[in-house]
Amino acid sequence: DRSIKIAPSILAADFANFGAECAAVEAEGADWVHVDVMDGHFVPNISFGPATCAAIRPHIKGVMDVHLMIAPVDPYIDAFAQAGADVITAHIEAGPHIHRTLQAIRATGAKAGVALNPGTPAESVAHLLDLTDLICVMTVNPGFGGQKFIDMSDKIKTLRQMIGDRPVHIEIDGGVDVTTAPIVAQAGADVLVAGSAVFRGGSVSDPAPYGTNIKAI
Ligand code: DX5
Ligand code: ZN
Repeated sequence: DRSIKIAPSILAADFANFGAECAAVEAEGADWVHVDVMDGHFVPNISFGPATCAAIRPHIKGVMDVHLMIAPVDPYIDAFAQAGADVITAHIEAGPHIHRTLQAIRATGAKAGVALNPGTPAESVAHLLDLTDLICVMTVNPGFGGQKFIDMSDKIKTLRQMIGDRPVHIEIDGGVDVTTAPIVAQAGADVLVAGSAVFRGGSVSDPAPYGTNIKAI
């Protein structure tokens, strides 16, 4: 399914009300809910772990899309699968054995994603295309919400060509709002993560607490 899907990132939501926040964005039309896991080691910020994912799982009707910004990844795959993740995405930069990591994710029954930092080329996934269900193109350096969009249109186009007719999503993460969403969709992305633009109004001057910008994106 190559239709455009919006995946609000709860990193920008109210951490004391994840259940209500997830329900609110789904009511507003969110297709997936994006869950950012940060370890203070692979990225310079700490968010939350598998117990929080398990707690929010019952509040998400659709796809729970877990983005692991942690290193190492492999010891924690089962915990995130047990927590109910539908998609588990690991960074190619997080360790020397991404091939093994993607196999291990698929072995749990979850979809396997691979994320690329802005400095990592499209070609780095050339030998992973049949092992992955999603390629996440970071359009910020990971670690924080609310950062400025870095245009990775060339990388997205190259990946779309490399993928060919394989059933692989291209997800964009970082700085997606009403202005940048059309750029990445045009380049070939189909899953758009949006944190601050959804939960905080972003570039859309909307004071409502959550959810109201999904349709605009
Ligand atoms: C960045 C995270 C993103 C982030 C996006 O490290 O992976 O998912 O929450 O936030 P915005 O949309 O505000 O750039
Ligand atoms: Zn993310």
